[in-house]
Amino acid sequence: MSDGSKVFVTREIPAAGLDRVVAECDADVWREPLPPSREELLKRIVGCEGVLSLLTEKVDAEFMDAVGPQLKVISNFAVGYNNIDIAEATKRGIRVGNTPDVLTDATADMAFSLLISAARRIVECQEYVRAAKWKTWEPLGHIGVDLIGRTIGIVGMGRIGMAMAKRCYGGWGMQVLYHDNYQNKNAESEFGARQVDFDTLLAESDFVSVHTDLNETTQGMFNAATFGKMKPTAVFINSARGPIHNHADLYAALESGQIFAAGLDVTDPEPILMDDPLLKLPNCVIIPHAASATISSRDGMAEIAADNLLAGLKGESLRCAVN
Ligand code: DGY
Repeated sequence: MSDGSKVFVTREIPAAGLDRVVAECDADVWREPLPPSREELLKRIVGCEGVLSLLTEKVDAEFMDAVGPQLKVISNFAVGYNNIDIAEATKRGIRVGNTPDVLTDATADMAFSLLISAARRIVECQEYVRAAKWKTWEPLGHIGVDLIGRTIGIVGMGRIGMAMAKRCYGGWGMQVLYHDNYQNKNAESEFGARQVDFDTLLAESDFVSVHTDLNETTQGMFNAATFGKMKPTAVFINSARGPIHNHADLYAALESGQIFAAGLDVTDPEPILMDDPLLKLPNCVIIPHAASATISSRDGMAEIAADNLLAGLKGESLRCAVN
């Protein structure tokens, strides 16, 4: 038991984790569909020993000051933690946890779904049917790009990159290129993956799929210059973080035919602004940051987030520790 420690849970998460948090803690759970405003958040966290946060909350020095020096643990309900100032938390002796592994397959499935949707123009075709434009079978209509035997370029060959490579290599017989700071020998032996520099990956890939974290080196790495190095038949997929691609430059690349199509699970900002011109392009499939949205994945994330929170409150090592 965590002896009724005061915690704030910034949104309702699956019962698989939330029930234990509520049973073992003095938990204040934000149950509104939208996140609390910054002002409300900074009020609600005062005096907590633990916070279960989402990627919608910026957990920075101001946040930690507002909670107070008794804060022991921040448990992020996500594998990514770019919303948290890890150095600041570490400096203050606050443990930070995340939720890896349980969402790997769900995320790779969605990245692959975006790839095939964008390559085969599925959303555009559906809109065509719904708009009553389907008048006959069209020999020259709705033509997309092939997948079999093509080349996938994976940026960030971590767990999710590996799962994406497995689908592309095993299911569609693709050649696998990857760009990463680290060599991934498992990817090389299991999928024949070849580690290449970024320019080679851009030039040789038919599909480029982003699976890296967001940091100073990856922010904006897909921009006018890099889209300009891709094939005109290439499809760009981002299921990692929105700021890794530049929205305006992606729009220009798609609109001018510099690349063929894109599939995005993530945008910058989130949600995408309704006047963003990307929303008008037929060759851009956009979904609302939903790649991990399966029952087992979200339940697994909730279980790990609860384990991390409860362990941190007791001063124990976290099941999945970031720092
Ligand atoms: C994560 O976990 O980082 C995803 O972006 C949301 O599941």
